[in-house]
Amino acid sequence: MKKRILTLGILSILLITSCKKETAKSEPKAETEEITTAVPDEQPSVAEQAAETQDSVVTETSTETPIKVADAKKEVVKAVEDVKNQAVNKAVQQSETVTKKVENTTTKETEKATKVVESVTEKTSTVKETAQKEIDNVTKEAEAVKKEISTPAAKAPKQLTQAEKITRGKTLFTTGICKNCHNQTKKLIGPTLVIIGSTYKKKKGRIANFLQGNAKPIVDPKRFKMMKPNIDDVTRHMPIQDLEALEAYIMSFAK
Ligand code: HEC
Repeated sequence: MKKRILTLGILSILLITSCKKETAKSEPKAETEEITTAVPDEQPSVAEQAAETQDSVVTETSTETPIKVADAKKEVVKAVEDVKNQAVNKAVQQSETVTKKVENTTTKETEKATKVVESVTEKTSTVKETAQKEIDNVTKEAEAVKKEISTPAAKAPKQLTQAEKITRGKTLFTTGICKNCHNQTKKLIGPTLVIIGSTYKKKKGRIANFLQGNAKPIVDPKRFKMMKPNIDDVTRHMPIQDLEALEAYIMSFAK
């Protein structure tokens, strides 16, 4: 500032001095008017000079101020830009966070839904499998029943004729243990088949029932002890057809 004031002071002195010189030249008085008009004409040029000088002085002596202003301006612009940028960045970040949240929520919901669908699918398939197994079992059972119905003859015991029964009975009697104690006509440990057959014919008993253990002895009850083990260990475990065959064979000797 001091420099400025100094410069302005110098300039004013210069101006005044130049004015005085002109005034001195224009004397005598006759030329006063001319001079008066001339002076103002020259004055702008002096003013211009002064202005130029001032400009140059200003640029030379105080270049700091314009630069500072420019810098300040730049800083302000920068600050404004920074604020703008910050605001934009914040907005972008917020929108990103929201987008992420939305994405997360959507993903979670989708995962949940997928899990539910999967578990339902699993359950459905399990139910299907169980149902299929049950269907298979029922089908198998139905097929088995069908077979049984369609082939009753195959399962049913073959009905033997009386002659066949006697033949079968003879084979069982002679190849088994019975012959150790029983003979057709000769008394051994047990009574003869003639006696047994005749007794049963007379009393209308059933030998098959006795051999099954379901009927009491009627031939020689006092000696039943000897016969009993054969019923318990052998004859009661034989199929009814074989017992009936033995019965037919023994009865064939009845008189
Ligand atoms: C260890 C000798 C012995 C053997 C083996 C034996 N019995 Fe006897 N059985 C006897 C005697 C003893 C009696 C007489 C007792 C009786 O009447 O219960 C008898 C009685 C019987 C009677 C008449 C039962 C009645 O009503 O009194 C029949 C039927 C008979 N035996 C069938 C058989 C047949 C079938 C076999 C072969 C599977 C057989 N026995 C094997 C000893 C034997």
